Amino acid sequence: MTLLTMRGVTKRFGAVEALTGVDFDLEAGEVHALVGENGAGKSTLMKILAGVQPLDEGTMTLEGRAVHFRNVSDAQARGVVMVYQELALVPALSVAENLFLGTLSGIVRYRALRERARALLAQVDLDLDPETEVERLSIGEKQLVEIARALAREGRVLVLDEPTAALSSSETERLFELIAKVKAAGVSLVYISHRLEEVFRIADRVTVLRDGGLVGTRALDDITPDEVVEMMVGSAVHRYQRPDRHRDERLGRFELDLAGDAPIEITVHAGEIVGLAGVIGSGRERVLPSAFGLSGGARWGDRPLRSPREAIRAGIMLVPSDRKSQGLVLESSVQENVSLSTLSRLQRFGFMRPVAEAAQTRYWIDKLSLRPPLPHKPVRELSGGNQQKVVLAKALAIEPKVLLLDEPTRGVDVGARAELYDVIDGLSSQGLGLLLSSSDTEELIGLSDRILVFRGGRVVTELRPPFTYEEVVAHVTGARQLA
Ligand SMILES: Nc1ncnc2c1ncn2[C@@H]1O[C@H](COP(=O)(O)OP(=O)(O)OP(=O)(O)O)[C@@H](O)[C@H]1O
Ligand SMILES: [Mg+2]
Repeated sequence: MTLLTMRGVTKRFGAVEALTGVDFDLEAGEVHALVGENGAGKSTLMKILAGVQPLDEGTMTLEGRAVHFRNVSDAQARGVVMVYQELALVPALSVAENLFLGTLSGIVRYRALRERARALLAQVDLDLDPETEVERLSIGEKQLVEIARALAREGRVLVLDEPTAALSSSETERLFELIAKVKAAGVSLVYISHRLEEVFRIADRVTVLRDGGLVGTRALDDITPDEVVEMMVGSAVHRYQRPDRHRDERLGRFELDLAGDAPIEITVHAGEIVGLAGVIGSGRERVLPSAFGLSGGARWGDRPLRSPREAIRAGIMLVPSDRKSQGLVLESSVQENVSLSTLSRLQRFGFMRPVAEAAQTRYWIDKLSLRPPLPHKPVRELSGGNQQKVVLAKALAIEPKVLLLDEPTRGVDVGARAELYDVIDGLSSQGLGLLLSSSDTEELIGLSDRILVFRGGRVVTELRPPFTYEEVVAHVTGARQLA
């Protein structure tokens, strides 16, 4: 029986069309996986379903009747509940308060509430005092509290957006047991994931989105993992790749402890771009912080990297992904930002050397084609792509030998992205070694000399050019291991 339908759903964010005429059906009591590459529109489609965002065009029906959810409580009142990718619990409140947030009115009987909370936590097999503050829970426990909260709202439709991204394997097993239980109780689930082994294990059907459009819906009994990958990536159009160049000047070797079974080793050559691929939770996201001395236990050759200071002394510099919170002082000018990392060199007897400072800034503005090329412009007034160039300039000003790039084009528009690619390519031509951590397959393929694929805290494959898009996605999602 079809419980819910979405027809012709279109959603725009300014100029971006996040969804274009998407159809989606949910059967009563099924687990329906929703897959697609980053930015395909999965979260957006489900946020529309859960009343978080309105749709621009299209219709939805629940049990055959048209519905319009104006907000989250509207959707919840009809039994549609979503557990978000970015968890939505209130850290300072207790577990019990979070469980019933927004559902309490009138006089609250705390004892009854505690009892009810205990019962709900038991349903998700969580042995926790309901009075515990949420900020003291592990991510896995928070996830389970979120699901308990969904159950508290008597959901008939439960949407889980990448629930296992931050879970350990035992927590993941627990979640799967819970999903089976919830499903047996007649609840329909939508399961968003980048991990195809999970999809094949727990889902009945899969819907694939690509670039905001529907590619198709299939029963998982009728399709192979490689076919799902094919649907995700589409027909292979020709994409730029670097020529396979031989590099033999070895800069050094990282030894990193990613909390997997054994430390991993990454050798870096001069002029080489090493791509790091893997879904969130694969260990890929821990490589660069570790290589920059942020997590302890790392080495570069025989030098320990116990702090960023030690990393910088070893010639290793990080360009962080979150440029707003980590990379830049937005109120300050381009020049002030670029000078920040080299203050000691630009000072003499505690005074800035204005000529040296201006010369350095001018050099980087030219080299990275900053637009507009104005050293005194506040960084806040630059476009995303140009802000990212300032972050790069700041990192390059210390003249590193190895540059760690974390999602260098996240949130950067297409044109500026191409320019950044040229800049990164140029840096490697000059002998810099680069580690490029990215969730963007196209970016990895276009820039990397080789690609290391991470899963479970280990490197599971090293890919060499010519890369194919399918191959990279098949390894990252785990489809290759299932085949
Ligand atoms: N609030 C927003 N404002 C502007 N653009 C948005 C917003 N939310 C999503 N987008 C854009 O809509 C598109 C689809 O995003 P969405 O988050 O749905 O992708 P996704 O498939 O969930 O990706 P991921 O696997 O990375 O979570 C992207 O291009 C994204 O940048
Ligand atoms: Mg998403």
